[in-house]
Formats: sequence, C-alpha cells, structure tokens
Amino acid sequence: MQKVSELYRGKAKTVFVTEDPNKLILEFRDDTSAFDGEKIEQLSRKGEVNNKFNHYIMQQLEEAGVKTQVESLLSDNESLVKKLDMIPVECVVRNFAAGSLCRRLGVEEGLALSPPTFEFFLKNDALHDPMVNETHAISFGWATEDQIEQMKVLTFKVNSILSPLFLDGGMLLVDFKLEFGVDADGNIVLGDEFTPDGCRLWDKDTKKKLDKDRFRQGLGSVVESYIEVASRIGLDL
Ligand code: TMP
Ligand code: ASP
Repeated sequence: MQKVSELYRGKAKTVFVTEDPNKLILEFRDDTSAFDGEKIEQLSRKGEVNNKFNHYIMQQLEEAGVKTQVESLLSDNESLVKKLDMIPVECVVRNFAAGSLCRRLGVEEGLALSPPTFEFFLKNDALHDPMVNETHAISFGWATEDQIEQMKVLTFKVNSILSPLFLDGGMLLVDFKLEFGVDADGNIVLGDEFTPDGCRLWDKDTKKKLDKDRFRQGLGSVVESYIEVASRIGLDL
C-alpha cells in the first residue's frame, strides 16, 4: 500500500491517505514531545521502536478480543491502519498515582489506587488537554452515552490484559492513555498507539521509570528504556 497524501501531522506521528479509502498509513517519527509540544526533541530510532512496540501490543490486544485499528507493519516506521473517525477525548486509567493526578490532588507518587481510576481528557494542546466529564462529552457532541460506556469498558479491559503482561516482565503499569475512533460500520475501535510515550511503566522492585517521564524529567536513556521494556515483554528491537 502506497502513501497518497498527508492527511494530518501530529506531534510524533504523521497520518497519510492511501489508495484505499478505508485504510491509512501511520508514520512514527523520531520526534518526542512533552508538555503539549513545548519540549520537542528528535530521539534516534524512537519512531521505529514505537512503531514495532505498538504493533506488538495491538496484536496482543486483538488476540484478547479488543478491536484495534492496526492492520499490518509496512516498514520500520510505518503501519497500515483502518481509517477511523477519531473521538477527541483521551481515556486514562491509573493503577498508581503519578503525574497530573499528584499535582491536582496532592497525593504521593506511587500510591496504589484500588480500584483503578478512570478519567477523560479533551484532546486540545492549546487548552493543555483539560480534564472533562461524561456530560461534557455528550453535551458538546464528542461522543454518545453508549460510545462513552464502551470506551470505559474497553479501557478497563485493556488494563486487565496489559497489567499482567507488563508484570510478567517485572514492571508496573502505572497509568496509560487510549484514544478510540468509530469505524465504517459504526464500531468503537482502539486507535492511535500504545507505546511508552503514552503510559507510565516502573520497574516493580526499584520503581525505576522506563517510560516518557524519562524525557519529561530529563532522566536520559529514553529510547534505551523503551527497548528494555520491549525486551522484557518478549519483543527484541
Ligand atoms: P497525566 O498524569 O499527565 O494526566 O497522564 C496520564 C497518562 O496518560 C500518562 O501515562 C501519560 C498519558 N497521556 C498522554 O500520553 N498524552 C496526553 O496528552 C495526556 C494528558 C496523558
Ligand atoms: N503527549 C503530550 C505532548 O506531547 C503530553 C505529554 O506527553 O506530556 O505534549
């Protein structure tokens, strides 16, 4: 499948139209962004690592019964995906407190959250992705009540599939963000990506950060850590 034209350039990925109206190509770039695009750097191999990591995780999710956008790996940096009409809210599940939850509620990083929490954020860099609730999503027409319920159920399902997968590799899945879209048949499908750019992963014993917080906090060895995460779950990059 060939790229025909650029549809959208995000902070870390570019989306291309193909000859097939129902298929897009996602190109994972080396650009790494934090703080809503305020900090951007090129990290060598990050695009390739995230493309292959995402494909591997999406395959595991498909096998466990979660519909995903991913069709196939096309090259080191490109994947073929189904075209979705993306819902502009991000779904976040947290198993342990970190990041904006700590800042907002003044709780200590690492506090175990039982049961895990669920939050929606509006995807809008200019507004710094504000937290929104279900009534906002419905009133502003971002999603229907039924779609919201499905996104919640699917996000918790992904948590129940991926938490044990990472734990087997000696890591805690601290939190993660998912984005969903609607396919040509009206089904809610998992889109965007699941990579260490959009989740937090800590070594279960040392609590060493192995995700994009290494970039946000200037801890170094960002791509090396992503490769270590992949290797611990059985993917050698
Ligand atoms: P937060 O602690 O900054 O709210 O982020 C929670 C999780 O969601 C964390 O793993 C990072 C991820 N996330 C993104 O990947 N992109 C985003 O725009 C937001 C708000 C969160
Ligand atoms: N993904 C967002 C950005 O790149 C937020 C973040 O990860 O810090 O700016």
